[in-house]
Amino acid sequence: MRIRVAAPDDAATLVEFNAAMARETEAKELLPQVIGAGVRSLLANPAAGFYVVAEDDGRLVGSLMVTKEWSDWRNGSFWWIQSVYVRPEVRRRGVYRSLYRHVQNLAAADPGVCGFRLYVDRENVVAQGTYGALGMKATRYLVFEELKPGIRFYR
Ligand SMILES: CC(C)(COP(=O)(O)OP(=O)(O)OC[C@H]1O[C@@H](n2cnc3c(N)ncnc32)[C@H](O)[C@@H]1OP(=O)(O)O)[C@@H](O)C(=O)NCCC(=O)NCCS
Repeated sequence: MRIRVAAPDDAATLVEFNAAMARETEAKELLPQVIGAGVRSLLANPAAGFYVVAEDDGRLVGSLMVTKEWSDWRNGSFWWIQSVYVRPEVRRRGVYRSLYRHVQNLAAADPGVCGFRLYVDRENVVAQGTYGALGMKATRYLVFEELKPGIRFYR
C-alpha cells in the first residue's frame, strides 16, 4: 500500500468517497455538483489544505482531508482532519492508521503545525474508537455552527 498526497486526477474517487461517507455516517445524499466543486477547489488550492490517499495496486482504498486553522494561543496551526473514509472491504487492516501516521510525519517536518483536531458524529463509535486508539483524546469542546441562508449541500 502506498500513502501519498492526492493529485488533481484523484478528484473523482475523492468525490465518490465523500458521497459514500455521508451516506454511511449521516444518511445524507450529497449534491454531486457541490461536493465535486468542493473537492476540486481544495485540490487546486494547496495553501488551504490537501488530501492524503492510500493506494493499493493502483486503486485508492482510503483518504482523508487536512485543512488548517490558526491558533493564536499556540502560535501555530492545527491541522484539521476531515472526510475520513476507508473502503468497507479493507477496513481494520491499518489503512486509516497509515494515513494518519503519514499526516503526523508531514507535520513533524513543519514547525508551524501545533497539533491535530477533528470532529466526529457522537454516534460514530467506530471512528471515535479509531481516533482514540491512535492517540487522540476527546476534547471538552462542543462544535456549534450556523449555515448562511440558502446553503444546500445534500438532497
Ligand atoms: C473509521 C475508519 C476510517 C477506520 O479505518 P480503518 O482503516 O478500518 O482503521 P484501522 O484499520 O487503521 O484501525 C486502527 C485502529 O482503530 C481501532 N478500530 C478501527 N476500527 C475498529 C472497529 N470496527 N472496532 C473497534 N476498533 C476499531 C482499532 O484499535 C484499530 O487497530 P487494530 O486493528 O490494530 O486493533 C473506517 O471504519 C471508515 O471509513 N468508517 C466509515 C466512515 C467514517 O466513519 N469516517 C469517519 C467520519 S468522522
